[in-house]
Amino acid sequence: MKKSKYSTVIIGSGIAGLYTALKLAENCRLGIPAQQKILLITKSVLGESNSYYAQGGMVAVLKDNKNDSVQSHVNDTLIAGAGLNDENAVKFISENSDKVIKDLLNFGVEFDRDDNGNFKLTKEAAHSVNRILHCGGDATGREIEIALVKSVKENKNIELRENTIAIDLLVENNTCKGLIVFGNNDYEQINSEVVILATGGLGQMYKYTTNPLGATGDGFAIAYRAGAKLRDMEFVQFHPTALAIDDSEHHNRFLISEAVRGEGAKLCDKNNYYYMKDYDKREELAPRDIVARANFSQMNKTNSDCVYLDATKLENPSKRFPTITKKCAQFGIDITKDLIPVAPAAHYFMGGIETNLNGETSIKNLFAIGECASTGLHGANRLASNSLLECAVCAYKTAEYLKNNNSLYQCEREEFQSEHNVEVKNSDESLIEDLKSKLKTTMWQNVGIYRNEESLNKALKDIKQIEQEFNKPDYCANIGEYELRNMIIVAKLVIKSALQRKESRGAHYRTDFLQTDKIAKHSEFIK
Ligand code: FAD
Ligand code: SIN
Repeated sequence: MKKSKYSTVIIGSGIAGLYTALKLAENCRLGIPAQQKILLITKSVLGESNSYYAQGGMVAVLKDNKNDSVQSHVNDTLIAGAGLNDENAVKFISENSDKVIKDLLNFGVEFDRDDNGNFKLTKEAAHSVNRILHCGGDATGREIEIALVKSVKENKNIELRENTIAIDLLVENNTCKGLIVFGNNDYEQINSEVVILATGGLGQMYKYTTNPLGATGDGFAIAYRAGAKLRDMEFVQFHPTALAIDDSEHHNRFLISEAVRGEGAKLCDKNNYYYMKDYDKREELAPRDIVARANFSQMNKTNSDCVYLDATKLENPSKRFPTITKKCAQFGIDITKDLIPVAPAAHYFMGGIETNLNGETSIKNLFAIGECASTGLHGANRLASNSLLECAVCAYKTAEYLKNNNSLYQCEREEFQSEHNVEVKNSDESLIEDLKSKLKTTMWQNVGIYRNEESLNKALKDIKQIEQEFNKPDYCANIGEYELRNMIIVAKLVIKSALQRKESRGAHYRTDFLQTDKIAKHSEFIK
């Protein structure tokens, strides 16, 4: 097997991966030997990620915003998180938002401003004040990704590899020493002092999702197989308003941002009944789990596969939401006149690889940042626009921690002796697609917005059947097979965690255990 050596390998080119690479590279001296370089690998093209599609924006508690405070943001985050947040993490991330936003400007990120040059701040569900920055109206992720990708490409200390999937970590004595990757139909062993997982979420494990194709939960499976500690694997967030029209090109559903409700849009059913007042006094701006359940219930009550978002009363919605306007128009919907058909879809994963605020996992020299990490910020239900903030603050902090801990970088360390001798096998692509589709259907039907013991056991049985048909526990033939292998592992973890939590809390709603326990406890998984 081919071998190489780097000081740090970062896996993923979403905002967490790109920004970590840039902040780490700031600390490198130019002209360092090749083996001390930072390598960033990504399984698709550079920048393709959940981050790219982020719409609503990024929370910023700006020092000069007299209407806001860290305490207010912390309170809103804790209320949404339903008792499972780590208050220190919430406070830390909120306190650092101003600094990180200003730093992102140095990398060419341009947040929308008013005519006086002040940042435009919007509101989303469960925020008590306007504190969300956005770019290009409703294309926040795309604009940030474009700026960071440009900076990364220009940086001589960062080497890039696209269409390369991380398969497994090399771990000895609970210390990560590198990883095995697969790309160009070949395997490579990469020895590295530090490995950083920035692999994003798992929305593609569900039939209906806002996430792009790559969100197959790889990082959770990779970390689990290596023996890292995972937690709160039952907490999948469903966004209330995905466009209820399948986008076959992208294999997902286009998001209609919560910011549209933040600016005043209302939800109604097919009978033109505006129902949110029946579900929560905060109506359209109740936390996301509540609005998602309300939409789902109203769809069931009216025997319909969607509800509707009415944005017709907004002032100039096409200017404020150009991307949404354009996408709806492709389906013949004029958002200034027509109701938009929407339905809930899997959107975000609150659980993941347990880390502290330096990004450290339970395995030495293995770090995790962004949606794949569980820092304690989100608890049982993420507050809108807190994810991009978490990616940025944790990337900044982890890079700073690595800079101050030179002992992690001992480039003379003994090389990992790999036992891996691998032969690339043939693949039956239609079988892989069929099994992925079966997995996504059972996850949607049985491990979705509502779940109970019977549905969860049914899903577990289905996944075991899929696993038997797949029958490739180790080496696979292509990226699609590796994804399926990971999806099977992670599906089992999500289902087992959901079975264990015999209460309803935040996004985890058990129809057979409606109560919320007095004491909030994390669920944990170690292989
Ligand atoms: P990602 O951006 O998902 O990046 C993961 C990267 O890892 C990808 O490049 C992927 O290809 C790569 N990867 C994965 N596995 C492997 C592997 N095995 N080997 C190699 N590479 C791998 N959050 C907000 O705060 N505000 C918003 O407005 C907002 N809007 C959203 C809108 C949509 C449609 C979606 C889907 C999400 C939105 N979110 C929003 C959530 C937010 O975008 C994500 O949580 C965040 O961007 C995650 O960033 P990340 O860098 O951790 O992961
Ligand atoms: C949205 O724009 O509705 C998504 C915001 C988020 O996921 O934080």
